[in-house]
Amino acid sequence: MIIRIAKKEELGSILELLYSCFTKTPKEYFLHFVPDREFPENSIVAVYSGKIVGYVQIYTRYLRTSKGLIKVGGIGNVCTKKTMRGKGIASKLLSYATSYMKNMDYEASVLFASKHKFYVKNGWKLVMTYHYEFDVDGISKTSHEVINKPDDTLLKDLMKTSEEFNKDFAFTVVRDEYLWNFQLGYFLKKGSLLIKSSTGETYALFDKASDGVYNLLDFAGDPSKISDLLPEDAKKISFFSKPYHPVTEYLAKNFPYTEKEHVLIFVKPIKIDEKSIDDLIFTQRWHYWAFDMF
Ligand SMILES: CC(C)(COP(=O)(O)OP(=O)(O)OC[C@H]1O[C@@H](n2cnc3c(N)ncnc32)[C@H](O)[C@@H]1OP(=O)(O)O)[C@@H](O)C(=O)NCCC(=O)NCCS
Repeated sequence: MIIRIAKKEELGSILELLYSCFTKTPKEYFLHFVPDREFPENSIVAVYSGKIVGYVQIYTRYLRTSKGLIKVGGIGNVCTKKTMRGKGIASKLLSYATSYMKNMDYEASVLFASKHKFYVKNGWKLVMTYHYEFDVDGISKTSHEVINKPDDTLLKDLMKTSEEFNKDFAFTVVRDEYLWNFQLGYFLKKGSLLIKSSTGETYALFDKASDGVYNLLDFAGDPSKISDLLPEDAKKISFFSKPYHPVTEYLAKNFPYTEKEHVLIFVKPIKIDEKSIDDLIFTQRWHYWAFDMF
């Protein structure tokens, strides 16, 4: 078994492996999120008898913290070929990824997953967040504009509004123009709704989960305008948050809701120690957006 950085020409084999590991995820997801600007250097493969049997990808992101930005490695697309599971391949890939991140001066690693034991065993710490579902049925939704393809002016306004809105929140991702285009390119193509208040300066991005149910992927602007930005047929809005986020606080004051504890985030110290991560990231004001997950 060899664990190493992927080669450009291995993209096809990597995609085939990922399709077989994540049968419910549309292929477009991998076609978009594997050949990102850091492919192949941030992609790690396990090779056995000349075939790719395991894969892990590292996405470089800059997280806001209580003391400025830190470089983090977002782990994505963890996958071992079905017939090769249980032999420690994914653990070896994650261990290689950890050494790689250490050499490349990443401060910490973050991943979003539901498989608790596996990542904890490999050194990631589990962080509790909450899943909210707001009942917004019967609210009249007016004065907004659905954006199908943001032009340069709108993109600049969206970036500015988002930066301003998130700047005091630890754990949010700093997005450059590449990241905005990269993420929006995927979400808008797959049918997510980017909605802008007609009075400007407030944006929401929703993903349709099922009839009348929308996941809030991202938000920037004035939380009290969110009721105007709901999709026309929205009955329920769901998202992950901490209770004291301004959007959650506004919705909780105005709509019936359910709140459930939910584990979705795993964090591993790479260059900084665990206590520093807690001090820097998990302050009273931390939050993340589903839009920034990998
Ligand atoms: C999760 C996965 C990558 C593990 O690969 P692997 O090479 O078998 O992992 P390892 O041999 O290093 O570790 C096996 C451990 O993972 C656990 N594990 C393996 N598959 C698992 C799964 N589908 N769900 C939960 N845990 C799993 C095993 O219980 C084992 O734990 P143990 O050592 O305490 O018994 C592999 O099962 C896979 O590709 N699954 C489908 C894709 C996926 O779910 N990826 C994770 C996305 S968050």
